[in-house]
Amino acid sequence: MNLQTVPFILLVISCGQASQYTELAQYVDDHQEEHVEALREWVAIESDSSNILRRPDLHRMMELVAEKLRLMGGTVQLVDIGEQELPSGQTIALPKVVTAQFGSDPSKHTVCVYGHVDVQPAKLEDGWATNPYNLTDINGNLYGRGTSDNKAPVLAWIHAVQAYQALSMDLPVNVKFLIEGMEETGSNGLDAMILAQRDTFFSDVDYIVISDCGWLSRRPALTYGTRGNCYFFAEVEGPKQDLHSGVYGGTVIEPMTDLIGILDTLISPSGKILIPGIREAVAPLSDEEWRMYQDIEFDVDNYKNKTGVSHLMYNNKVDLLAHRWRYPTVSIHGIEGAFSDSGTKTVIPAKVTAKFSIRQVPDMDPAAVKKQVTDYLQSVFAKRKSPNTLKVTMVIGAKPWLADTKHPLYEAGKAAIKRVFNVDPDLIREGGTIPIARTFQDVTGKSIIMMPIGGFDDGMHSQNEKMSRYNYIEGTKLFIAYLNEVAQINKTSV
Ligand SMILES: *[C@@H]1O[C@H](CO)[C@@H](O)[C@H](O)[C@H]1NC(C)=O
Ligand SMILES: *[C@@H]1O[C@H](CO)[C@@H](O)[C@H](O)[C@H]1NC(C)=O
Ligand SMILES: *[C@@H]1O[C@H](CO)[C@@H](O)[C@H](O)[C@H]1NC(C)=O
Ligand SMILES: [Zn+2]
Repeated sequence: MNLQTVPFILLVISCGQASQYTELAQYVDDHQEEHVEALREWVAIESDSSNILRRPDLHRMMELVAEKLRLMGGTVQLVDIGEQELPSGQTIALPKVVTAQFGSDPSKHTVCVYGHVDVQPAKLEDGWATNPYNLTDINGNLYGRGTSDNKAPVLAWIHAVQAYQALSMDLPVNVKFLIEGMEETGSNGLDAMILAQRDTFFSDVDYIVISDCGWLSRRPALTYGTRGNCYFFAEVEGPKQDLHSGVYGGTVIEPMTDLIGILDTLISPSGKILIPGIREAVAPLSDEEWRMYQDIEFDVDNYKNKTGVSHLMYNNKVDLLAHRWRYPTVSIHGIEGAFSDSGTKTVIPAKVTAKFSIRQVPDMDPAAVKKQVTDYLQSVFAKRKSPNTLKVTMVIGAKPWLADTKHPLYEAGKAAIKRVFNVDPDLIREGGTIPIARTFQDVTGKSIIMMPIGGFDDGMHSQNEKMSRYNYIEGTKLFIAYLNEVAQINKTSV
């Protein structure tokens, strides 16, 4: 090739992409009302995965997703992932997982979009201003349960593919979908399904995209980390039955006193974790991270206002963000067996079980945390020389997830956000746990990106959940631009 023609060819290519994007974006704008109607149809289905009485709705929801993808010409499967055992011992069918594929050109990258279409419970009486299952547009905000979490983002991805089809443009990458219906109750059955399909459905997948979180402010964001979680039960047992405090009080060492005593050794009054080994395992905050946090758009006053407390543990942005995202915390959630009704029962509970959890961050390891917590509590308990017994168990051990923000997948994300919103995104983390990201990473070994389109004030899981038209429609364009950018990633470089 004549070298002098190279700049010309590059120019033509990039102009071609730009005009292609403009056409696709225009298509999305022109079809905004149809996209809102599609969301209305999905929101109308009460696909609450925590309520077994709603299971038929959930099955119908999965059918609807499959049907939509099938009508678009995708290769669609409804994958049976077995049954769920209820506390009563009964079993009911889990909602099937929908997989779909658009394009199978081996010269192109393959992107797999993960999402869920089950929702948290919602009732008008909970304090909703509108019927949670009747999508309602108020000043450009679309209110309804499951709008932001996660039905609109799933639809935005589907509509991104649909736009290419409608304009008879080739998809720049192959696109796969994996849509589940049990996310809100812990993705029952999904880990096994991913493992079973590692060498089939996932074999040609290059990248996995998750859009199941939100921005931190009005500025678009890419999410590159989530905290894990280790959940503990600490059970102290003594008398063979509950005792009367007037009869036995002052003569037996009470399990509750022991339990409160050991719980008080987990954290200092200022919030410092006192369990040996935990703080030492935390990756140090690098200068680069510190600088990144400085640039993030985050309203400290508004955050503080939402909590309703008189002062937070930190009053500057960097410390607040760092402690929400990249440091561990201990939270004490409750004590089973303790008297908790109203009134004044004078009981000495015979057995009490504390529930607490520790959010995990790199480089902590749940197996090590389990040992550190158990050894520490047992040693503290031993010093009390109590006749009671202590049993510590870890019931959840979810690892944290962290991605490299310099990975081509993230560079593609930054470029797509720049194209659609004309700003550089905030690079953020989630303080919560999204275990599926870590499962995808561990089982498939593929690179993962979290690309949220939800607003910072969408109220996921809360009353009056919403998704703005702006985020929904511009989010659809973002996904279109993103597919374009991913196609530019040098296939041999990753
Ligand atoms: C949804 O709400 C609109 C008004 O906001 C009302 O006209 C309509 O009948 C409602 N639909 C259902 C199914 O409740
Ligand atoms: C704090 O919240 C109250 C309502 O609870 C609101 O009126 C006030 O404007 C908020 N202040 C800030 C600084 O956001
Ligand atoms: C793609 O990556 C390979 C290997 O890293 C390199 O040799 C090649 O020049 C790259 N191509 C482009 C267009 O960047
Ligand atoms: Zn969600």
